[in-house]
Amino acid sequence: MAVRSLLTAGITGVGMSFPEKRLTNADLEKMVATNDEWIVERTGIRERRICEEGIGASFHGAKAAEAALEHAGIRPDEVDLIIVPTVTPDMMFPATACLIQEMIGATDAWGFDLEGACSGFLFALQNARAQIEAGHAKKVLVIGTEVMSSILDWTDRNSCILFGDGAGAVVVEAVDESRIGIFDAINGIDGAGGKFLHMKAGGSLMPASQETIDNKLHTVFQAGRDVYKFAVKGMAKVTKDIVDRNGFIGSDVDLFVPHQANIRIIEAAQRRVGLEDSQVAITIDRFGNTTAASIPSALRVAYEDGRLKEGSLVVLCAFGAGFTWGSCILRWTAP
Ligand code: UT7
Repeated sequence: MAVRSLLTAGITGVGMSFPEKRLTNADLEKMVATNDEWIVERTGIRERRICEEGIGASFHGAKAAEAALEHAGIRPDEVDLIIVPTVTPDMMFPATACLIQEMIGATDAWGFDLEGACSGFLFALQNARAQIEAGHAKKVLVIGTEVMSSILDWTDRNSCILFGDGAGAVVVEAVDESRIGIFDAINGIDGAGGKFLHMKAGGSLMPASQETIDNKLHTVFQAGRDVYKFAVKGMAKVTKDIVDRNGFIGSDVDLFVPHQANIRIIEAAQRRVGLEDSQVAITIDRFGNTTAASIPSALRVAYEDGRLKEGSLVVLCAFGAGFTWGSCILRWTAP
């Protein structure tokens, strides 16, 4: 069990926002050599949402944040800190956190973006928890938001079928002493995995040039099979570890909310902890892999479906580019 401070951080609001436009597997069949059966069987994805041109990550991020604030019953000017995990910021700088701060009128907040790829939401949640437990912040917005469609090679069937756009957000606050909120987290990185999943150009190492554009280096590169092998093992292990080290067994878990990258990766983690289907949150069928947005938006869907009650035991986990991974265990503390 990790060391606990006197203040306990808990999730007190959750929101999401997705573009209207749906891209189905049938639509993709017209774009690349693929088919619905292959995509559903290998990934679990049936459709994903895609932003219109000219929409950056801040747009749905701000809407998801507003929904989370409304759920928590707090005003934007009460927010102390905004953390935005994303791999598709509106631009390299300023931070998307600054853009969203202005859009929602969080006049007393500071904030920053965080790059942890598919584990970004869990890394940001752990940061929010630490700020609250240290007494440095009272109300924190964590906003996972992505426009993955802006960094996909729409001629590469290995990657373009996997991802979608959208946003999810949570409000994290200090909860009453008598309640338990977030009570443990595990986070890890291993840079040796970087070669399997990355975007080569657009950073300081390889700035944009005619050559980088011609060679499609501003899009996701993924060695799918390699990432799959590490993700299956990594996500199952980090989930099992957090459940075990807190003295629980599978049947204690009310809801398992894994990062939504591939249904087969989720099922491997589910099996390792011994969870029934009814304990698992699945949104990959309708949203695809939305990177940092997948866990908070899946939480919002679960909340809307009445699957989260005061005190519900919730386990979150993720694995992604970097490699990065994480898990988190909490009691549900939102209304
Ligand atoms: O969230 C960040 C972390 N990312 C992930 O967790 C993704 C991890 N990787 C995966 O989810 C899977 O590896 C994929 C879904 C990307 C691919 O599934 P797979 O079962 O590993 O397939 P594969 O790459 O081994 O490819 C199997 C076959 C290949 O054909 P051959 O070489 O056997 O003739 C591919 O060319 O499937 C072919 N293929 C496709 N066929 C139809 C690859 N993509 C497609 C496609 N439609 N879209």
